[in-house]
Amino acid sequence: MSIIANDNNIFVLETKNTHYVLGIDGAGYNHHIHWGKKCNPLDYEINDNGDENSNNTKLDEYRQELTPFGQTMYRDCDIKAEFEDGCREINLRFDGYEISQDTLKIKFSDEFYPLEIILNYQVYDGCDIIKRFTTIKNTGKAKIRFEKISCAQFSLPSVKPYTFRNTNGAWGSEFVETQNTLEGGCAVYESRRGSSNHNNSPYFIAYQNADEKSGNVYFASLAYSGNFKISCSRDSYSITRVIMGLSDFDFSHTLNGGESLDTPCVYCGLANGFGDMTRQMNTFALKYILPSNFSDKTLPVLYNSWEATGFSVNAKQQIKLAKIAADIGVELFVMDDGWFGQRKDDHAGLGDWYVNEEKFPNGLDELINEVNRLGMDFGIWVEPEMVNPDSDLFRNHPDWAYHYPHRKACELRNQLVLNMTREDVQEYIFNTLDELLTNHNIKYIKWDMNRPFSETGAQNLQDPKMYSYLHTMAVYSIVDKLRQKHPDVAFESCASGGGRCDLGALSHYDQAWTSDNTDGIDRITIQKGYSLLRPTKTMRAWVTDIAGINKPCSLDFRFAVAMQGSLGVGSNLEKYGEEELEICRRNIALYKTIRDNVQFGDLYRLLDADKDEVSMNQYVSPDKSKSVAFIVAPGTKFYKKRIPIRFDGLKEDKTYKVTSQDINCEKSGAFLMNVGIPAHIRGAYYNRIILIEEI
Ligand code: DGJ
Repeated sequence: MSIIANDNNIFVLETKNTHYVLGIDGAGYNHHIHWGKKCNPLDYEINDNGDENSNNTKLDEYRQELTPFGQTMYRDCDIKAEFEDGCREINLRFDGYEISQDTLKIKFSDEFYPLEIILNYQVYDGCDIIKRFTTIKNTGKAKIRFEKISCAQFSLPSVKPYTFRNTNGAWGSEFVETQNTLEGGCAVYESRRGSSNHNNSPYFIAYQNADEKSGNVYFASLAYSGNFKISCSRDSYSITRVIMGLSDFDFSHTLNGGESLDTPCVYCGLANGFGDMTRQMNTFALKYILPSNFSDKTLPVLYNSWEATGFSVNAKQQIKLAKIAADIGVELFVMDDGWFGQRKDDHAGLGDWYVNEEKFPNGLDELINEVNRLGMDFGIWVEPEMVNPDSDLFRNHPDWAYHYPHRKACELRNQLVLNMTREDVQEYIFNTLDELLTNHNIKYIKWDMNRPFSETGAQNLQDPKMYSYLHTMAVYSIVDKLRQKHPDVAFESCASGGGRCDLGALSHYDQAWTSDNTDGIDRITIQKGYSLLRPTKTMRAWVTDIAGINKPCSLDFRFAVAMQGSLGVGSNLEKYGEEELEICRRNIALYKTIRDNVQFGDLYRLLDADKDEVSMNQYVSPDKSKSVAFIVAPGTKFYKKRIPIRFDGLKEDKTYKVTSQDINCEKSGAFLMNVGIPAHIRGAYYNRIILIEEI
């Protein structure tokens, strides 16, 4: 891994297997030169062929790392600004570069106005992932107003169309995938809702002929949980470009004299197949993205009360649940919504983060002590960014919610969004949560966020249209401050299910709630979409009583699905008989023996339920000595299917012991990967967990 700068201002970012090359021409324009196999660094050059004609200008055709608005560049731009005199053109000159070990900064200044833009790159040892972000600085005195700020632009090498893989989900069907082949025009993946994820994902995955195992896959993921825009285009020069950044849907940002802004960052890479992409990002995120307190720690099996008891939690009934949870092997007991203020349903209480004395007459500690006595840690649910109009907080501070004085605000789920860009709101939230964590032995916070934003009036801001960015940064900073003061508390990011599980959130929270849809069958699709560019261990997956919305699936089946992330249980355990509890005990005990493999291993997606009727995922330990594979078949068409199970990621010349209910053999890695073991998948909801261990 290194960064090479040639005499002619060509910069080569060398990763494990690739070169990412950019350069600056004599006139100061930046050019993207190459992203792919390594070549002789001295061979790279900028081709400048001159204007084609007065309609097709050379500037419009440049492949670039950054395109400012203006001149004859008619394509989508990265940065658009208005200077105080009304000028909206940005003309950048190259202004030097800095290399320090693994980082490169390339500086540009406007030729007249006091605007500086820096492109930042970082490379990492032993992988093909590069971090990018952009810095914008107002080096003068007068204000500069920005209408668009992007984080990174990419030009893909081939002139043939690329297919873009993204998600187009919703609440309850997060991470459902789409594939768009872009022959011309533009495809936009975005969020305008205030959080990142329910619909599209803040990333691009572009390929031509690729599958799980082979083919060039270009990818980049934006580490940002606010409104974003990923715009992909294929222009009349057959160039496919992607611009990733803050959404410009309702946006404006002013830099006063002397101020600067670092955009959120983007992690990009080139992989050989989708499987390699997932494994690269998983390994990278464990090492460089997830908060370091827990990134290398095994996550506990948790119990969450939401699906069992809804809002009607109370001390007696939670203690009952906790006793059963401890008995089946749960390690962390999380009490969800309903414990605070006047919370009986979703009409009241949000904002009043003190315990409801009717439900907990002896305070929270009665429950927490009992949970601890049972050998479990205690976790609690909060929704700090929200307020119910029926709450003491709102009665005392009606101006703390985003609003316009002469407009009625929509009360989705009977709640309003707190204006987190206000310092007093930030202080209130930090102080109440800090107090909660200081006064009680709480080891886990589930931080929820249950409605998209609307009527986002923020009279406190110089740029009210910057609310999404500032709100997101305030959330990150409160979580960071709480973590600093309470380093042994883990955080879960939740937004009505999987509404906030981008790499930005996952650099502040240790894990995420994937979806409120806990149906064993739907989860297979949801979890596959999640797995593409998000680390496995961050994916919280519960076994609940939703046993297949359309057709029932067994408890074992649901465990086999939920064990493919960080396992949780959300069932109403009080209703379970001894037989069901025994199934829970058996599966949780098994999970504890394989979870390191799942949480830290390399994922191989071997069969895809949506295409192959059967889902088979295998997780291999980094040293390839241990592996676990899960087969879950939601229902094969003719109720039987014979398939050879061919594993992946093993050492060819080593012998492995392979076991499950009906398999017990010893074979070489080469055999297991090339010939495979026969499986007879019979009937709907077939499931097997196969253990593979090097002898
Ligand atoms: C939405 C979350 O996704 C659920 O898990 C649960 O915490 C509810 N909110 C509580 O209101």
